[in-house]
Amino acid sequence: MSLNDGSIMPKQCIETLAQFNDRSCLRRYNSAGECPDIVNAICERDGVKPGNVFIENGSGPVLKMAFHMLFEDYIRSSWTRMASHLVGRPGVTMVIVSPTYEKVVNGAIRGGVGIHPIVLDEANGFQLDLKKLEAAIQKPCIVYLPNPNNPTGNLLVTRDEIIDLVERYPKNTFWVDEAYVQYMDPKIHQPVSDLVPKYDNLFVSRSFSFAYGLAGIHVGYLIAPESFIERMEKKSTPYRVGKLQESVVVTALRNADEHLRDVRALCAQEQARIGEALDQIDGITWYPSSANFILCKWPDTNTTTKFLADMLAAGVRLRPFAAPEMANHFRITLGLPEDTDQLLEALQVVTHYRGSEVLPPPSQQAVSEDAAAVGV
Ligand SMILES: Cc1ncc(COP(=O)(O)O)c(C=O)c1O
Repeated sequence: MSLNDGSIMPKQCIETLAQFNDRSCLRRYNSAGECPDIVNAICERDGVKPGNVFIENGSGPVLKMAFHMLFEDYIRSSWTRMASHLVGRPGVTMVIVSPTYEKVVNGAIRGGVGIHPIVLDEANGFQLDLKKLEAAIQKPCIVYLPNPNNPTGNLLVTRDEIIDLVERYPKNTFWVDEAYVQYMDPKIHQPVSDLVPKYDNLFVSRSFSFAYGLAGIHVGYLIAPESFIERMEKKSTPYRVGKLQESVVVTALRNADEHLRDVRALCAQEQARIGEALDQIDGITWYPSSANFILCKWPDTNTTTKFLADMLAAGVRLRPFAAPEMANHFRITLGLPEDTDQLLEALQVVTHYRGSEVLPPPSQQAVSEDAAAVGV
């Protein structure tokens, strides 16, 4: 329960997978180089044009490639930025929230980008202070906003706030990472992909790894201005997403409404069960989430480290954080009811053992319980 991959795919995908049942069924590349079937299904659902969509093997690779291009564009568009870059100073700034999805931040730092973090207010449920954000974006920059955010699980900006920002700061690029947005009921939050054709400073990335439960075929996409997508296609190879992925993803999109309703209900149910258990453990704080994971913390780092080691020994891996300011936090991914059962069992054992030396591995526990049963 340490990775955020989703738990179930649309049931119709099982029928699609069953069609791949003879030795020649995968002999052909997908329907055409740029996956028009997926692109058309996305356009229908997200209200964009085919020229706005770039498909890849996951949204992680999309983030990596497109950010690199954006950084280059920013640096090349000004002599002062180019000069800064050439003498080893950041030629471009990326405004992020903290904490957020670490891979994007680490990639930007490796690419020589200046990072301006806006610290989220933990006492206030990790809300983003828009005044602080606005103060940071007065000069042209790239703003990365996962919405909902990973690892805090909360929505950072509403649709209206995004519209306001892109309109008032036309020289800045706003990248809204909607990897987890399908976990939210559209009646509560409307995603923003349909706004991309209207604003050329808005980029939106999406993934099938989470609410669609398809991390195992790893498909993601970017919705961005047509001229940018055209350049991305030119830099990439055709046929990068295979026929099996294409068929399953198209089925998932065609059955999205029913599936996403089920997934939201499942997540709400498992979050309630886990939340109830966490509430009974003295010292753990947890934050309600709009995604498929819950951020939690102990009051101090030593307790967190021991707790995570004990949980691992009890058969459940949870996600720690490397950043010093997050060292007493950990993240639990919501899964199937049976995953929650296992988590709750481990929590019971570990919190019972808390304060003792080392928890025996589950195999030894089973042996000693068996041994106790026969009186050895
Ligand atoms: C916010 C966010 N965006 C993007 C990704 C990348 O996901 P994928 O490459 O599976 O589409 C992740 C993965 O954890 C994530 O948390």
